Amino acid sequence: MPPRSDPVPGKSSKAPIAKTQILRTLPALRRWRAGLRGRSVALVPTMGALHDGHLTLVRYARRKCDRVVVSIFVNPTQFAPHEDFGSYPRTWDADLAALKALNVDAVWAPNVATMYPEGFATKIAPGGPALAGLEDKFRPHFFGGVCTVVAKLLLQVQPDIATFGEKDYQQLKVVTAMARDLDIATRIAGVPTVREKDGLAMSSRNAYLSPEERAAASTLHRMLKACAIRLKKAEPVAQTLIEGEAEIEQAGFAVDYLEARHAETLARIASIKDGPVRLLVAAKIGRTRLIDNIAV
Ligand code: PAJ
Repeated sequence: MPPRSDPVPGKSSKAPIAKTQILRTLPALRRWRAGLRGRSVALVPTMGALHDGHLTLVRYARRKCDRVVVSIFVNPTQFAPHEDFGSYPRTWDADLAALKALNVDAVWAPNVATMYPEGFATKIAPGGPALAGLEDKFRPHFFGGVCTVVAKLLLQVQPDIATFGEKDYQQLKVVTAMARDLDIATRIAGVPTVREKDGLAMSSRNAYLSPEERAAASTLHRMLKACAIRLKKAEPVAQTLIEGEAEIEQAGFAVDYLEARHAETLARIASIKDGPVRLLVAAKIGRTRLIDNIAV
């Protein structure tokens, strides 16, 4: 029998550990992609400042596909002028070390001029779940920017699957609808939220919290769990949410929204019989805005 000259790296413990390629230009990405010849490819889009939530998406991608590419791009078009684009944490060396340790095949890290060259003039205007009156109400620019960059990433990388966290639940639904509506062949895979020990959803923005704010922040998830239990017992939706808001305000949060929505369409629901239901919250503590959600 001839020796097997083409093992499947990443799938066998005996496979050599491939070097992580750092790709910064479209020609380099396209060359890398063209060389994969029939291998399955997973894309994990991120803005860097990687934590275990991101790395869980990478591990999921690693299990599902032969090759994994992680994009790191802090996307200016999804930040409003008053938001934190300039100060968003950038931790390239630590990010790269974590991705190498997970045997990621490539990191796609274009700069802003590569992603949005001079004369760039096309924008995706998502509807449906992007106009649900949740994040879009407080960040009207956000999903247009997310969809434009995610569509570009999917077209650039042509992955079989792309992973998105349930942590950003509306984003997951918006990107799923966009891929469906634009006939993009990539399967959008949702991955459950990864939490700190006290329940706080991991987020790059948790780094902004002072020790006091960090201690108070766990109220968010505790409140969501308590509300979900009450709703499951068929307690009235409106009253439950009013009391949930009061609980986190007591802990120092200023609430943008706390809502019970249909888990798939994000439509408003009057009772949990209209479900499946998802509870979604956004609230500021100090200058940091946090979001979270759970299934009821
Ligand atoms: P970013 O906030 O870096 O998140 C990248 C991915 O990680 C998203 O799919 C997000 O939902 C997921 N994620 C973040 N925290 C998580 C957690 N605690 N548990 C599980 N998954 C988590 O979301 C973005 O970047 C951008 O909007 C992007 C999609 C990259 C477009 O610019």
